[in-house]
Amino acid sequence: MSTDHPKTPIMEQELRTLEHEASQDLERIDTANGLEEFRIRFLGRKGRFSAIMEQLKSVPKEDKPRLGQLANTVKKQVEQAFSDKKDQLASGGGPTAAQATAVDLTLPGRRPERGKLHPITQIMTEVCAIFESMGFSVAEGPDVEQDRYNFEALNIPAHHPARDMHDTFYISDSILLRTHTSPMQARIMEQQDPPLRVIAPGKVYRCDSDITHTPMFHQVEGFLVDTNVSFADLKGVLSVFTQKIFGADLPLRFRPSFFPFTEPSAEVDIACVICNGKGCRVCKKTGWLEILGAGMIDPEVFKQVGYDPEKYSGFAFGLGIERIAMLKYGIDDIRLYYENDLRFLSQF
Ligand code: FA5
Repeated sequence: MSTDHPKTPIMEQELRTLEHEASQDLERIDTANGLEEFRIRFLGRKGRFSAIMEQLKSVPKEDKPRLGQLANTVKKQVEQAFSDKKDQLASGGGPTAAQATAVDLTLPGRRPERGKLHPITQIMTEVCAIFESMGFSVAEGPDVEQDRYNFEALNIPAHHPARDMHDTFYISDSILLRTHTSPMQARIMEQQDPPLRVIAPGKVYRCDSDITHTPMFHQVEGFLVDTNVSFADLKGVLSVFTQKIFGADLPLRFRPSFFPFTEPSAEVDIACVICNGKGCRVCKKTGWLEILGAGMIDPEVFKQVGYDPEKYSGFAFGLGIERIAMLKYGIDDIRLYYENDLRFLSQF
C-alpha cells in the first residue's frame, strides 16, 4: 500500500526522470572523457542518484520497500547502459554486444536454399540410365584397390611402361587409389561367367591437374563378353550412347591407341562443342576432345580370369564423365566442377 506522503511521488518521478535523462545523455556521448563526466554526474558519490537516495530516509516506512526496489532497478539499468557504452567506445564505436546479438523482428525472413544434385552426379545418372536401357547392369567396386586388379590382372605387370601413364597415388606397395575403373573388369569376370554386359561407374584418382584434368574424376567402365562380339558392336553401342547423351549426331572419331588390356585399342574423340571443331584452348586447337578409351578385351585378360579366349570375345570402354559434362554444358575448365562455387553449381 502506498501512503499519500508528498515525498513518495516526487521521489518516484525523480527516479524515472533520471533514468530517461541518463539514457538520452549516453546516446550523445562519444568520448571516454564524456563518459567519465556522465559517471560522476549520475552515479558518483555526490551524483544525482545518490541525491535521490538521500530522500529515501524521509519517506514513510511503508513506502520504502517499493521505492527501494524501483531505485535498485533504475540504478542497475543506468549502470548497464553505462557499461555497454564503455564497451562500444572501447571497440571503436561499433554496436554493443547486446545490440549486435539483438534480433530485428522487422527484417524479412530468409528463404532456405534448395539443394540440387552436383552436375557430375546428374551426368553420371544420365550416362548409367542410357547404358541400362541397352541392357547393361550396374556394378560398383572399391576406390582403394589392390595393385593386382588395377594393373596385374589387366596385363600391366610390375615395371610395365604403361604404369607410368597412370600417375598413381600409392597407399602401400600393393594398395593404391584406383587410377581407372578397369579393375572392375577383372573383379566381375572373376566372379561371373559370360555372357556379361556390365557398367561400373565410380571415382578414380591420378596425380594430374590442368584445365582438362583433375586429380579425382569419374569414369564409367563398360564391358560386354559373349561369343562372336566384334569391334562393330563396340562402335554401335558407343554411337547410340553419344547420340543419346548429346541429343545429336555429333561426329565421333576412333583413333588407334594402345591399352595393355585391349587389342585392338582406340581412343574415341567427339567434335569439340565449345569451338564447333574450329580449335580452342580446351581441345588444344585440334577441334576434338577425347572422351573415352576402348577396345576388344585382350585374350591375356581372359586367361587371367579363367575365360577361354578361343570361345569368348568382348569389348570394353572407359569414359570420362567430367569430359562429357564439359562438352554437354560448354564448360571450358574442368576444375570449375570442384571449386564448390554455388554461383557455378546452381546453374545446372
Ligand atoms: C583409361 O583409363 C582406360 N582404363 C580406359 C579403357 C577402358 C580403355 C576399357 C580400354 C578399355 P584413359 O587414361 O585414356 O583410359 O582415360 C579414359 C578417359 O578418362 C579419358 O578419355 C578422359 O575422358 C578421362 N580422363 C583421363 N584422365 C583424366 C583426368 N585427370 N581428369 C579428367 N578426366 C580424365
